[in-house]
Amino acid sequence: MTESITTVLPMTGPEMIEVYCGQLHRAVADSLSPIWAEPIDVLTRQRLLEKPHGDQKRWLEAWDQLPQLTDVSSQLNQDVVTVGDTQALNTDQREALSTGLSGLKPWRKGPFQFFNTHIDTEWHSDWKWQRVAPHLSDLSGRAVLDVGCGSGYHCWRMAGAGARFVLGIDPTILFLIQYLSIKRYVPSVPVWFAPLRLEQLPMEAALFDTVFSMGILYHRRSPLDHLLELFGLLRPGGELVLETLVIEGGEQALLVPHDRYAMMRNVYFLPSTQMLEVWLARCGFTDIRTVDVCVTTVEEQRSTEWMPFQSLPDFLDPQDASKTIEGYAAPRRATLIATRPE
Ligand SMILES: C[S@@+](CC[C@H](N)C(=O)[O-])C[C@H]1O[C@@H](n2cnc3c(N)ncnc32)[C@H](O)[C@@H]1O
Repeated sequence: MTESITTVLPMTGPEMIEVYCGQLHRAVADSLSPIWAEPIDVLTRQRLLEKPHGDQKRWLEAWDQLPQLTDVSSQLNQDVVTVGDTQALNTDQREALSTGLSGLKPWRKGPFQFFNTHIDTEWHSDWKWQRVAPHLSDLSGRAVLDVGCGSGYHCWRMAGAGARFVLGIDPTILFLIQYLSIKRYVPSVPVWFAPLRLEQLPMEAALFDTVFSMGILYHRRSPLDHLLELFGLLRPGGELVLETLVIEGGEQALLVPHDRYAMMRNVYFLPSTQMLEVWLARCGFTDIRTVDVCVTTVEEQRSTEWMPFQSLPDFLDPQDASKTIEGYAAPRRATLIATRPE
């Protein structure tokens, strides 16, 4: 591995993947732990090089279109994660940028601004960050894990808030390439992405000062095991940020959908916030606080030019927006903060 971890990524997709894997290995080894560097590198290469997703070639061709520029400015500590100046590109570069970014649709988590192109994503992920950020211990100098990071939008915000090292993990290859389309313009920002599931990584590593699990718990068939995994990844004294779907009700209130929930197939456990607090306590966390609860609105999650498929308005009962199309309570999300004791 000769590439510096701040080297601009090469233009062509397959070459870029090789270089990126090398950079990821070094960044994890240098800033986190050699124990994780090897499995992350091996598993990422397997995923991308040995068993590529059917659309990976097309997405890498879209990547190839993005203009190659160095010394690009960025703003990561504002609602729209921004790379580049609106005036920086000539006409050909603008067209190439637009074609490349369009080839990476659907854009679900954002918003982003690439030079003159604004990406209005399906989700206002900035609204989630506004709900979460005021309650966090200062991220300055912290090593952070974002489990199920989507496009990496929140990872960039974490770096913008001062984190010294951010690792996002998410098995969705399109989201990796969306992340890389930002990374190519800001190679020195310490945000990294591994296209893996949490369960693939060595647990009980106690490596992170803060671990985020946002929008994941309800996808897990064994939610307490997920919480125990997160516990094991935090250093003693470290902070968990848990954001998930909840229902109204007391300590024993829980919804397990028969089949789909808001059209999603893979939703298993929606507890009340009180039950969630009990789960966290049973897993060993202390200083457990529910810091936010809100109903997801059709302004926060909706179809856009950059995500043209169905979205929340299509998943709610057309006669009664307080219910999902299956008749369950409409999506309500809570944020809880908890500590792994010293
Ligand atoms: C609802 S999205 C949440 C994205 C982002 N964290 C947010 O809050 O906006 C859930 C994400 O988790 C990812 N995911 C699902 N199972 C996972 C697992 N076992 N490990 C890591 N990520 C997972 C999915 O690919 C998806 O991008």
